[in-house]
Amino acid sequence: MSETYTVTVEPLGREVEVAEGQTILEACLRAGVWLPHSCTHGTCATCKVEVLDGDVDHGEASSFALMDFEREEGKTLTCCARPQTDVTIEADVDVDEELEVFPVQDFTGTIVELTDIANDIKRLRIELDREIGFNAGQYMKVQVPGTDGIDRTWSMANPPTENRVVEFQVRNVPGGVATDGWLFKDAAVGDSLQLSGPYGRFVLRTWEEERPIIMLGGGTGLAPLASMVKHALINEEYDGHITLYAGGRTKNDLYDVDFFRQLEQEYPDQFAFHPCVSAEEPEEGYRGGYVSTVMEQDFDKLTGYQGYMCGSPAMVEGCLKSFMSRRLFPRDIFGEDFFNEGDKQNGLSSPLIKR
Ligand SMILES: Cc1cc2nc3c(=O)[nH]c(=O)nc-3n(C[C@H](O)[C@H](O)[C@H](O)COP(=O)(O)OP(=O)(O)OC[C@H]3O[C@@H](n4cnc5c(N)ncnc54)[C@H](O)[C@@H]3O)c2cc1C
Ligand code: FES
Repeated sequence: MSETYTVTVEPLGREVEVAEGQTILEACLRAGVWLPHSCTHGTCATCKVEVLDGDVDHGEASSFALMDFEREEGKTLTCCARPQTDVTIEADVDVDEELEVFPVQDFTGTIVELTDIANDIKRLRIELDREIGFNAGQYMKVQVPGTDGIDRTWSMANPPTENRVVEFQVRNVPGGVATDGWLFKDAAVGDSLQLSGPYGRFVLRTWEEERPIIMLGGGTGLAPLASMVKHALINEEYDGHITLYAGGRTKNDLYDVDFFRQLEQEYPDQFAFHPCVSAEEPEEGYRGGYVSTVMEQDFDKLTGYQGYMCGSPAMVEGCLKSFMSRRLFPRDIFGEDFFNEGDKQNGLSSPLIKR
């Protein structure tokens, strides 16, 4: 019989059973006990907690997200930690009261659309076996077919009201297990998949309507921002103003430009959209440069704003600096970086790492 351990989460005093091989975070999110987290792959340190009692295996926690001295001090990353005994942890569980928490669940899905939408980018739509509840900006884990339980995380680009079919926008990563090795190779409409979710805390803060939002998306980093924009405007969940910058190297690396232009026309008082190209002369209707530099040209000061950013770790690092150069405090900046296995193995440190 497989062993289970009890994890007690302080200061909540909640007890959660963790199955053998399961991480503390996975067990808690499935039990509806919210713990802070972002990447769920041991790179961002958002899920760092103190182990007050008991032993854990730190698993695949990266050495820069959980340093040696922190391990000695009794810290762990719940997204990688597997209990070896009953354990008590102390977590920083100050979740925004306004945020609705949806427990993580398993789903079976069927691919209903797989189309090329830009250079090396596909739109993948998956019909789930039942409805999913999630916040705009969250992501799911997809088990890669033909592998021994490898999963990859992709952000929903659909709004939460479309809760039976989820849309992912995925970039091909040469040599990547899920993309090069499966999605861009032999995945097809009709294929069945296993998924779980929702995960993540990069969500549209609908309760901060008095503060306008600047969104910076690089490549498929547009996906969670697309979910947020649709939820804000079409679902009327946010009355404030949103300025969205979507970046790619060339025009052919950008997608859904016409869709966002249409939204700009429909919601002129609430939405502005700037597609940006960094490696070619911009045609009419496009801006030239990285999203962060174009944003800097438009805004001298962002005091009173909220900043959202998503893309590769390098892109997010640049955006973070740009936002801060425009006097946006870290507490008003929300981001997700699309860290991959190569970044982790090559020792790249996430710009969003929490110390
Ligand atoms: C929260 C979150 C949300 C995300 N959302 C999206 C999204 O909406 N859309 C999107 O396109 N991406 C998204 N990503 C990125 C996504 O999860 C995957 O990382 C990406 O799709 C690549 O997966 P892969 O399996 O194809 O590549 P991987 O197998 O992870 O490989 C990536 C690169 O690393 C190299 N590599 C792999 N293993 C090693 C190793 N052991 N040593 C050295 N190099 C190695 C590979 O050759 C390849 O070049 C997100 C990431 C996170 C963390
Ligand atoms: S959520 Fe655990 S390190 Fe990112």
